[in-house]
Amino acid sequence: KRVAILFSGGGSNMVALIESMVGDHPARPVVAVSNNAEAGGLTKAQTLGVATDVVDHRPFKGDRDAFEAVLNETLAAHAPDIICFAGFMRIFTERFISRWAGQMINIHPSLLPKYKGLNTHARALEAGETQAGCSVHEVRLQLDDGPLLGQARVPVLSGDTPDKLAARVLEQEHILYPAVLKRFAEGDKTPVLLP
Ligand code: GRF
Repeated sequence: KRVAILFSGGGSNMVALIESMVGDHPARPVVAVSNNAEAGGLTKAQTLGVATDVVDHRPFKGDRDAFEAVLNETLAAHAPDIICFAGFMRIFTERFISRWAGQMINIHPSLLPKYKGLNTHARALEAGETQAGCSVHEVRLQLDDGPLLGQARVPVLSGDTPDKLAARVLEQEHILYPAVLKRFAEGDKTPVLLP
């Protein structure tokens, strides 16, 4: 299976996914695309020998269709079977979602369906949660929603700050996302539940 990875920032999840696709793995990374020309992940992907592309959303000034048309051209050139969102901070139109329906997965740093959207760790701490974690789901029209493909739980510890909790969750993201991708590439949608 041909995998495209979309990201906006540091791309640590992208790196974990690329590094997992080795040996007899059913998938291979074919391109890493960012909407941000300054994204730290671009050099990481290049160092790992994966083609990169940038489709900056800013020139399109909120014209999502125009941005997505260019993004689709970029993606189609690499003919991906699977698109992994890994810290990709743009929201898609229904047109884009239906164009790639069934081929898109995303990681979100909360125990969905709790804490969709942003600032998930601060919100979990604020709410006094005793557990937190991350979820991988199939991408559907609703933001941070869709059939669950995996979840990893971590304890909330006393004295946790959003950054401390984020670091603990991120470690699990790097285990969960590759595990889910492998199953998804094999056509197995049995959720991966960690620990
Ligand atoms: C992670 O918490 C991820 O879940 C979220 O963005 C954070 C950074 O991800 N989407 P990465 O290091 O850019 O993969």
